[in-house]
Amino acid sequence: MVNGVQRDADVWGGESLLFTLRERLGLPGSKNACEQGECGSCSVLLDGALVCSCLVLAAQADGHDVVTVEGLGAAEVLHPVQQAFVESGAVQCGFCTPGFVVAAADLLARNPAPTDDEIREALSGNLCRCTGYQRIVEAVKMVAERP
Ligand code: FES
Ligand code: FES
Repeated sequence: MVNGVQRDADVWGGESLLFTLRERLGLPGSKNACEQGECGSCSVLLDGALVCSCLVLAAQADGHDVVTVEGLGAAEVLHPVQQAFVESGAVQCGFCTPGFVVAAADLLARNPAPTDDEIREALSGNLCRCTGYQRIVEAVKMVAERP
């Protein structure tokens, strides 16, 4: 199940979930930056757990629930984290942004009022080369502080 819809794909044994999502299922939101589990740009939720989809075999996801950034919001109706990223200027080149959005949404679902340290810890698996992280932290706080 991908974003609530049953999807079928023929994959080869060593194929990553990231490759399948992007190249076979038409979901390019999850980004391929390192393909080594280092950057978090490919973050998705697998049965509700935050994972790097580049490190998960597509076959391992068979029969499980996957949520990608496309499943969190749409251009017409942004997820609150996406809206806050826009408002706080947390997006520059945007390559890291989908991974941050998924990781931040996961954090806020578990902890609706995180401290700065908890935000930085939760997002420590996501790398950004542009923003310096401050505005990303501010975006997460913005969501947490909204009624
Ligand atoms: S592309 Fe998966 S962690 Fe970097
Ligand atoms: S906005 Fe460019 S890498 Fe994060």
